[in-house]
Amino acid sequence: MPLTRRQFLASTLASAAAPLASPAFGAAPAQVLRAAPATWQLAPPDYPATPVWAYNGIVPGPELRHRQGEMFAARLENALPEQATTIHWHGLRLPNDMDGVPGFGRSATPPGESFDYRFPLRDAGTFWYHPHASSLEQVSRGLSGVLVVEEADPPDIDADLTLVLDDWRMTETAALHAGFGAFHDLSHAGRLGNYVTVNGGWNWTHPLRRRDRARLRLVNTATARIFDLRARGMTMWLIALDGMPLETPQPVTEITLAPAQRADVVAEITGADESLLTSREGDEEFMLARFPTSGPARPARAAPAALPPNDLPALDLAAAQTVTMVMEGGAMRWLASARHDGVEMDTRALADAGQFWAFNGTAGMPENPLATLSVGETCRITLENRTAFPHGQHLHGHHFRAVGPSGRLGPWRDTILLNAGETREIAFTAEEPGDWMFHCHMLSHQMAGMMTWIRVV
Ligand code: C2O
Ligand code: CU
Repeated sequence: MPLTRRQFLASTLASAAAPLASPAFGAAPAQVLRAAPATWQLAPPDYPATPVWAYNGIVPGPELRHRQGEMFAARLENALPEQATTIHWHGLRLPNDMDGVPGFGRSATPPGESFDYRFPLRDAGTFWYHPHASSLEQVSRGLSGVLVVEEADPPDIDADLTLVLDDWRMTETAALHAGFGAFHDLSHAGRLGNYVTVNGGWNWTHPLRRRDRARLRLVNTATARIFDLRARGMTMWLIALDGMPLETPQPVTEITLAPAQRADVVAEITGADESLLTSREGDEEFMLARFPTSGPARPARAAPAALPPNDLPALDLAAAQTVTMVMEGGAMRWLASARHDGVEMDTRALADAGQFWAFNGTAGMPENPLATLSVGETCRITLENRTAFPHGQHLHGHHFRAVGPSGRLGPWRDTILLNAGETREIAFTAEEPGDWMFHCHMLSHQMAGMMTWIRVV
């Protein structure tokens, strides 16, 4: 992507704060998210605007901001051509029927219809929302946005900035490549783009003063790209992952962000003229965001305090139900056979069905859950990545912690990245009754087989 330094179009963010359109019919929640075709200037201004699908006409969708403990309510209006849609509130603990996953007895919202979502906001943190129907196509076309739930007592910082990282597969004329679910994407690293945006634009800039402390809410909404982030001219402390605060803020110089993952950092600006957030790709480093700096150098401050923890259920590792989830398939390790739609199939039949990946020998949604848990029960899952690709696995409705070899617990997360050949164990405690999806958030992989579910009774 071109990394020039022209002024960022201030309208990109200003419009995100504009009041939401009111619906045509009665008793709607105050917030409406209307999914519809739109055009958006993703590329630099010498390119045409890109035809996208967007919430309320903007990319990313409106940033929704609420206080912890509030009742959240939003109406989805589906104005998409032909496709049914839903909204999944990624990372939130909510009642199962508000989770936005079609199937399991619920259905997606057809074009021309609407659906009202309503649930209490239990956790403070950085979350996001996106469709969970034809997800690869709908998310790739631009449907996603951030949901910030503010702490009752927000930390003392100078700026609170959301950076939505996304990538797009664009043609020469800045149109999105059609062909969502090409076999090569499905069987390799997914629909990787060729153009990266921050907050829906190509040159995101925000001025700060030296020694300012900004809370950066970093959100990866891409369907395949893993961002390898670096701080230049700022000191960063990681304060939360996937919405959940760390017990102790951790100084970091780089952050790996897989699709769907979030990281909240406190960045203290130290650059004399500018500070940068960059991303590394092989030997190259690209600028993602620029913070021009000004003002006198001020004394350094003490490390930031931890955010107040969310009230997550305790883990009982000793009494936990243990499960193994073996991830297989994809290019170079092709599935010899797997079960799909209740039938054992060979490589060719699977490929004809667009299936390239399996969990425990099943490609696509299995008839039976990976585990059945009662409310309050802890589950330990050993994830074995036997494929030649990295995968970011997401569990709905729950956060989990990685269990280290010595029993040491990692930070709470809702999406975990497993590199090729890696095995890791996670543990979580079942909370809300219902059927919860567990799938790869590289959405091409989800579509091509990597999904399962967990039942909580
Ligand atoms: Cu972010 Cu199953 O989703
Ligand atoms: Cu995957």
